[in-house]
Amino acid sequence: MRDGEIEEIVRVWRRSRDASQPWLEARMGHTAEDDRRFFEGTIAEENDIWVAVERHIAGVLEILGFLAIAGDRLGWLYVDPDAQGRGIGTALLEKAKELSPAGLALYTHQRNTRARAFYERRGFRAVRFGVSPPPENEPDVLYQFGSQPE
Ligand SMILES: CC(C)(COP(=O)(O)OP(=O)(O)OC[C@H]1O[C@@H](n2cnc3c(N)ncnc32)[C@H](O)[C@@H]1OP(=O)(O)O)[C@@H](O)C(=O)NCCC(=O)NCCS
Repeated sequence: MRDGEIEEIVRVWRRSRDASQPWLEARMGHTAEDDRRFFEGTIAEENDIWVAVERHIAGVLEILGFLAIAGDRLGWLYVDPDAQGRGIGTALLEKAKELSPAGLALYTHQRNTRARAFYERRGFRAVRFGVSPPPENEPDVLYQFGSQPE
């Protein structure tokens, strides 16, 4: 992630969440300002952010997805709905594996069947079912890849 890219990344994050978990977004009611504050103050502060970009005419870069990772904890992996199914999620996950070759751990929502299938096809195994912290309180599942300890 480079300076000045946060706004575009937060837009992708929002579009991707609205498409993949509309039930949760409706319940949580986060505003664009909430998203921006949380991304800037927490996600970008505590993680390394990697973006997937497409280069257009005249060198203009469009952000199509991002990965937020802290050590062996893959915190966020989101691809714009219009860019899904093109291998971008796989490329970002490969980057995460390259950054943490000994293993990775991540949480996803139990209802997110598509993400779960995506991770399971790429070698992740579900190791614990639980509930995310308040105020979200959404059933979640911990996935691990490689030798990452619980
Ligand atoms: C999960 C996610 C990151 C995958 O990203 P992606 O760029 O779509 O991933 P890829 O294109 O590399 O692979 C997608 C898979 O769906 C398949 N697919 C086929 N048609 C597709 C389509 N029209 N759209 C999306 N995926 C399609 C791909 O073939 C691939 O299948 P495979 O797992 O059997 O190889 C993406 O769907 C996403 O951002 N989801 C919403 C956010 C989310 O749930 N993130 C994870 C939370 S922890």
